[in-house]
Amino acid sequence: MESSLEISVTPTSDPVGQERLAEILADPGFGTHFTDHMFVAEWTPEQGWHDARVTPYAPLTLDPATAVLHYAQEIFEGMKAYRHDDGSVWTFRPEMNAERMVRSARRLALPELPVADFVGSVDALVRADERWVPDAAGEKSLYVRPFMFASETFLGVRPAKHVTFMVIASPAGAYFAKGLKPVSIWLSEDYARAGRGGMGAAKTGGNYASSLVAQQEAIEQGCDQVAFLDATEQKYVEELGGMNLYFVHDDGTIVTPELSGTILEGITRSSIIELCGKLGHRVEERRFTVDEWREGVASGRITEVFACGTAAVVTPVGTLKWRGGETSTGEDIGPVTQQVRQNLVDIQYGRAEDTFGWMHRVC
Ligand SMILES: Cc1ncc(COP(=O)(O)O)c(C=O)c1O
Repeated sequence: MESSLEISVTPTSDPVGQERLAEILADPGFGTHFTDHMFVAEWTPEQGWHDARVTPYAPLTLDPATAVLHYAQEIFEGMKAYRHDDGSVWTFRPEMNAERMVRSARRLALPELPVADFVGSVDALVRADERWVPDAAGEKSLYVRPFMFASETFLGVRPAKHVTFMVIASPAGAYFAKGLKPVSIWLSEDYARAGRGGMGAAKTGGNYASSLVAQQEAIEQGCDQVAFLDATEQKYVEELGGMNLYFVHDDGTIVTPELSGTILEGITRSSIIELCGKLGHRVEERRFTVDEWREGVASGRITEVFACGTAAVVTPVGTLKWRGGETSTGEDIGPVTQQVRQNLVDIQYGRAEDTFGWMHRVC
């Protein structure tokens, strides 16, 4: 479906020079360099979505009473644009991000942005900043961050009557510049990420704010990432601070925690379920206890654990550590983890046939 947004484009008069851009793209890191342009659209109850524009990237001027700064009515998405060997630029299942943003908007009482308008907005920015999409070599990409926030100047707890939707983009380097290495996980027993009826399934800043102290604890414990349990029984594995989890068993079964309403419905997670089907692996979506994790690794029933998300695609998990113990599947990347990762990355970079129809050509 075509976007109904009329998007004006004002090119920057001061683009980053070609030499500087080449330097940035040679070693982009993550989330520190931003492209020449940004996408902005406004919403009011009277006008709906309007004033859609691609403009030069610039700081925002916000009144100190802007609602989002106080009540956190905000949602976002994370996706990537990939350059293929023939120079074309593609996004991966952008309508899935658009649909998730609609669900997040409903939960946060924000206006819904139609799927076609979301995809059209991302396309407009990526086209304007096409030269910022790194070459296919390595696993570089252009990370794209759509977000929506309560921009009304108003102190009071009610849904905002002025909302702004924006898209910005930032070149991203290979997540594992020094090769794939398993991450270690700290089990958070003092902090929950999301409870029943809360916002866990929405991609909203508050969920990440609430995860920071647990992530800090993980670092203090010498671990890379934190895993959260369900808030009610403190028994079932939910997800990491920014990735979903998969457990590979010795009988070939692969288990991923079911969508309980408290975890994020990862697009990588959904894609892996479909991909595994094609690769002949059986995936079970079900509740999965932390005792199953601990005992499964100790007994050898669980042979591989991996995490997945847009940023790192698929990351092997080595050690699980908790207060009083730890267990590990080792420091190697397992064959299933490797196979799933390779298949997904090959589709994203156009090196394998996209039999699922997942890729969307931008330019
Ligand atoms: C909490 C959380 N879970 C899971 C994911 C993975 O989602 P996706 O595969 O859509 O990137 C993310 C990352 O976006 C996340 O922030």
